[in-house]
Amino acid sequence: MALTRVFPDGAVLTAQEAFDGWDPGAGAPAERPAVALNMVASVDGRTALDGASAGLSVPADREVFHALRGRVDAVLAGTGTLRAERYGRLVKDAGRRAAREARGLAADPLAVVLSRSGDVPDVPLLADPAQPSVVLTGEDAAPDAALARLRAQHGVRSLLCEGGPTLNRGLLDAGVVDELFVTLSPLLAGGEPPSPLLAGARIDPPTRLELTWALEAQSAFFLRYRVVRGSAA
Ligand SMILES: NC(=O)c1ccc[n+]([C@@H]2O[C@H](COP(=O)([O-])OP(=O)(O)OC[C@H]3O[C@@H](n4cnc5c(N)ncnc54)[C@H](OP(=O)(O)O)[C@@H]3O)[C@@H](O)[C@H]2O)c1
Repeated sequence: MALTRVFPDGAVLTAQEAFDGWDPGAGAPAERPAVALNMVASVDGRTALDGASAGLSVPADREVFHALRGRVDAVLAGTGTLRAERYGRLVKDAGRRAAREARGLAADPLAVVLSRSGDVPDVPLLADPAQPSVVLTGEDAAPDAALARLRAQHGVRSLLCEGGPTLNRGLLDAGVVDELFVTLSPLLAGGEPPSPLLAGARIDPPTRLELTWALEAQSAFFLRYRVVRGSAA
């Protein structure tokens, strides 16, 4: 499926081509992995329908989702998300695992779970012997400590966080988010309570973002932002 890179250059690309130049691990700081968030939202800002994100996705979003998973050392999801989405093995398709290896990555990305309470859901992801995983609890789950450990002990240079809003906020508050990928799905969903990209109180001053690219397909936008550090909006 073709995506148009409406910013910066108008190129027409597959999702794989669009992400071929994306190698977040290459620029990772020495003390932690590079961290990117990926979320899908309706145009009115909902990130879940009936408690899950599946209804927000369009086929092009699935391609972007897999392109991202195909280029990172590790994938992190909050315990709320694991519970809601019933995560299984992260890269199920053998062809996608082979493509990861061709890029110099492990066939399977490391699955990472952080839980300060230790209340980790019993999901297929953590029961599958083919899926490498690390579960950090208590003080080890604090973002700085967890990321330092992933880098030093597990060689993780790039970490993709797939939400949800509560974990996103914890990582943002810890100052460890480098990039944000947002799929704006062509839907208006309404509903209460709101389910935004980020949980928690207002960020004051707001964190500023800089657009790296904008892809378009199927009336959805795929936005890639860099988090601008130390600057108010
Ligand atoms: N649209 C999308 O792209 C998308 C993506 C993901 C999820 N979702 C939706 O979001 C909902 C789940 O999100 P959620 O916000 O309830 O849960 P969540 O963010 O997935 O998980 C929250 C949990 O993560 C743990 N955690 C570990 N370290 C943390 C830290 N530093 N800061 C904050 N939390 C930390 C906490 O458990 P402990 O207290 O044990 O530490 C916390 O309760 C579901 O409805 C799901 O479908 C949507």
